[in-house]
This record gives sequence, structure tokens and C-alpha cells, in this order.
Amino acid sequence: MSELRTVLIAGGTGFIGSHLCNFLRKNGYGIQIISRMPGPLNMSWNDLKAKGLPEKVHAVINVAGQNVLDMKQRWTAGFKQNVYNSRINTNKALASAIIKATKKPKVFATISGVGIYEPNHFIEYDETSEVKGYDFLSKMCLDWEKAAQIQGSDCRCVNIRSGVVLERDGGMIQQLYLPFFFGLGGPVLPGTQYLPWIHMEDLCRMFLFCIENDNINGNLNGVAPQIISNAEFSKAFANAMNRPSLIPVPEFMLNIILGRDRATMLTKGQKVLPRRVIDMGFTYKYPSIDEACREILQKSLK
Ligand SMILES: NC(=O)c1ccc[n+]([C@@H]2O[C@H](COP(=O)([O-])OP(=O)(O)OC[C@H]3O[C@@H](n4cnc5c(N)ncnc54)[C@H](OP(=O)(O)O)[C@@H]3O)[C@@H](O)[C@H]2O)c1
Repeated sequence: MSELRTVLIAGGTGFIGSHLCNFLRKNGYGIQIISRMPGPLNMSWNDLKAKGLPEKVHAVINVAGQNVLDMKQRWTAGFKQNVYNSRINTNKALASAIIKATKKPKVFATISGVGIYEPNHFIEYDETSEVKGYDFLSKMCLDWEKAAQIQGSDCRCVNIRSGVVLERDGGMIQQLYLPFFFGLGGPVLPGTQYLPWIHMEDLCRMFLFCIENDNINGNLNGVAPQIISNAEFSKAFANAMNRPSLIPVPEFMLNIILGRDRATMLTKGQKVLPRRVIDMGFTYKYPSIDEACREILQKSLK
């Protein structure tokens, strides 16, 4: 019997991480998690620093990071520091462990966000677009990606700039489910802002694609090919639920609840194309928002 290939996943306990662990297991991979919490499959960040990578790791993935849109947390300097450190320090720790490892994994795959691109209604961004950091979150994305660099190392480095990840049990859908269910849902105003998105299964498939294709390096835009606005998303979600999408969320309210910097993640948007992803031969299971919403909501009725 052939040996299981092990993937080491930092943040494997989170919304994306737990789906990714299940998906990779189903695809024949063994999983080891790096977490701040003890657990049967978990190693700690201190273990990583002291002992380095476990032996025979085929791939390393980092999807760790303090939740930026945690409504319980005020947008203070201290919270911003946690958000920043949880991404940059974890990428740095993993990159350093890979550089030191005598037997390298095949690939180091990380996540960052489409927030690296400045919101603009007219510019189309692809993976070759210039990025320069225009606010706290975009500068953080730049540092996040830089922290993962392992130049000169015999290990591929891939980063997925993810849009909003859609799945029933976490992230944006979990927040919106009840308001829409009770007919109180609607777009975030102005509604015309773009909403780059991806179905969770396609994001997991994209990570697998990065593991299994030896020619993939660098940045990929982790977004669906269908470009939609926030209002179009609300309509698709409400339709899939057989509910109206009538009650809009005013921008000023989000500015008050989240702080203006953070609220821009919802009130502004970028037109992001997955050009390189498609050129590399990746195909989507959920390319359209109607199909994605239907699948997600069907599952929740089981
Ligand atoms: N969800 C989305 O729509 C989306 C879109 C684009 C990018 N991303 C990025 O993808 C990553 C994962 O997102 P997610 O939605 O899965 O988040 P999540 O559910 O909050 O999980 C993130 C994981 O990161 C670890 N973590 C949290 N705070 C940390 C800290 N201060 N230091 C070290 N580790 C910490 C936690 O693992 P332990 O408790 O086990 O340590 C947690 O399970 C984040 O970096 C996020 O910015 C997410």
C-alpha cells in the first residue's frame, strides 16, 4: 500500500481550514494541523519553531489569521496588531521552517485577500496588476505575501488572493442567513460595488490544484469567473432562499459598527478576474453565483 502524503495546515481548525482538511482527506491526503490549541492532530507554533517541519511533509498550507470581521472586536490599534501579526508571523514562521528543512515540501501554499487591489469601479484587476498598498488592509496583504517568500528554496510558493468564501457554516453566508431567512435581507449600499467571491469547494479544489501541478508558482486570484455586484449577490442569495432582497444595509451603519477602514471590505469592491487561474487550466465547479447559492442553501436543508 502506498504511503499517505501529508499536508501540514496552519489554521486547519478555522472555517476555510476545516473544509480544506476534509476535502484533502477525501482526496487521499493525510493531515497535520498547526494550531494554538492542543489536539490529537495538532502541533503548536512553538513545536514548529523548536523542532522544525515534521518529517515527510508533502505540502504546507497557511490559512491562519485572526478574523478581521469579528463583530465583537472593536477596530482598535491592538486588534489591528493581532490581525496583522496572526498573518505575517505565521507565514514567516512557516517560510523559515521550510528554508531550514533538509527535505523540503513540494509546495508552500498561502492565502491572502483581494483587498490587496484598490477598490475601483472601472479597473479590471488580474494577477499581473500592480499592487501598492493604499490602506491598512492592503498594506497588510502586501506584507502577508512577502512574509511567505522562500526564494532560492527548492519548494514552490503559491499564494491565493481569495474573494469572499461562500459556504453555509461560516463567513459571510453564516452572518446573512438569518436576516435573509426572515425576509430582512438586502444589499450593502450602494449595492453597485463589486463582490469578488468563490464557493468553498472551488477554493479547496484550487489548493489541491496548486499541490498537484508542479508548474504553478506565484499569485492566483481565488475568485469565481462571474463578476457580480453586492446587489446581484443579494438577489441571487434571496432567490435561492425564495425570499425578497428588499432591506438594504446603509453604509453609515457599517461605518459605525465596524469602523470605516474595516467597513470598506463590504461597502467598496474590486473587479477581480481569475485570468491566470484559467490560463493555468483550472476549471470551476461553481462558476455562477446562482448555482453556488443554490448548492449552499440546498445543503443546509438536509
Ligand atoms: N473567509 C473568507 O471569506 C476569507 C476570504 C479571503 C481571505 N481569507 C483569509 O483566510 C484565512 C482563514 O479565514 P477563515 O475564514 O477560515 O478564518 P477563521 O475561521 O477565523 O480561522 C482562522 C484560523 O486562524 C487561526 N488564528 C486565529 N487567530 C490567530 C492568531 N491570533 N494567531 C495565529 N493563528 C490564529 C485559528 O486557528 P487556531 O485557533 O487553531 O490557532 C483559526 O482557526 C484568514 O487569514 C483570512 O483573512 C478568508
